[in-house]
Amino acid sequence: MPDTTAPEATEDTAAAGLSYIAENLALVRGQMADAARSVERPPSQVVLVAVSKTHGTPAVEVALAAGQRVFGENRVQEAAAKFPALRQQHPDLELHLIGPLQTNKVREAVALFDVIESVDRPKLAAALAAEMAAQNRWLRCFVQVNTGEEPQKAGILPGDLDGFLEECRNLGLPVVGLMCIPPVDEEPALHFALLAGMAQRHGLPVLSMGMSGDYDVAIALGATHVRVGTAIFGRRPAAGISPAAVVAPLS
Ligand SMILES: Cc1ncc(COP(=O)(O)O)c(C=O)c1O
Repeated sequence: MPDTTAPEATEDTAAAGLSYIAENLALVRGQMADAARSVERPPSQVVLVAVSKTHGTPAVEVALAAGQRVFGENRVQEAAAKFPALRQQHPDLELHLIGPLQTNKVREAVALFDVIESVDRPKLAAALAAEMAAQNRWLRCFVQVNTGEEPQKAGILPGDLDGFLEECRNLGLPVVGLMCIPPVDEEPALHFALLAGMAQRHGLPVLSMGMSGDYDVAIALGATHVRVGTAIFGRRPAAGISPAAVVAPLS
């Protein structure tokens, strides 16, 4: 596995050089290709979404210089601060929203992102469809499925997926795939296989699954997109760690 012990992104690491990002990218790409070949899939079938949340523009610039073009961000505000300038220099950059989206941020999100991976509720689907029509900018959408049926996690429950996809179709939302974040304490392969089965049943070609610790497993089970942060950019500062990954202290 790539070096996930790289230092947190701080002013110091910027000064000290961020070359480990290019090295990590090469390692991740190599392991992705190996995982694809091991199940006789062409490596070009799998897109690497580099998750740059909490990492600053210099880190993203190093990845861009190393040929990376697809990035994932969790928050509209953070992405809006970093990416418009980078896009001017790299018009072929592709930006994915991978975190929860509030309906009051939909206008900005539709203008800023290229793909919304986290369509997770009917109200959001309706707001996105209306805003895409208003801007005449049709972003590819993935539906986030809460495969572990975790109460604190976003996503459509597997039992509600048929109805939700039907709703999205009626709204004209361009849903092309499914995305999941497996529970931290469960075997991810079970969740990846479940998601792959649901996508196949619905004829959806895109499967976004697999993060730093398990992207090889996800590729073996059919991922077309893997979302990798830590293995490329190093550890995120504590504030950037998702609440699901943090054990709350007992008061
Ligand atoms: C939805 C989502 N996908 C992927 C990642 C990347 O995870 P990792 O740093 O383990 O690669 C994150 C990170 O927070 C995330 O929120």
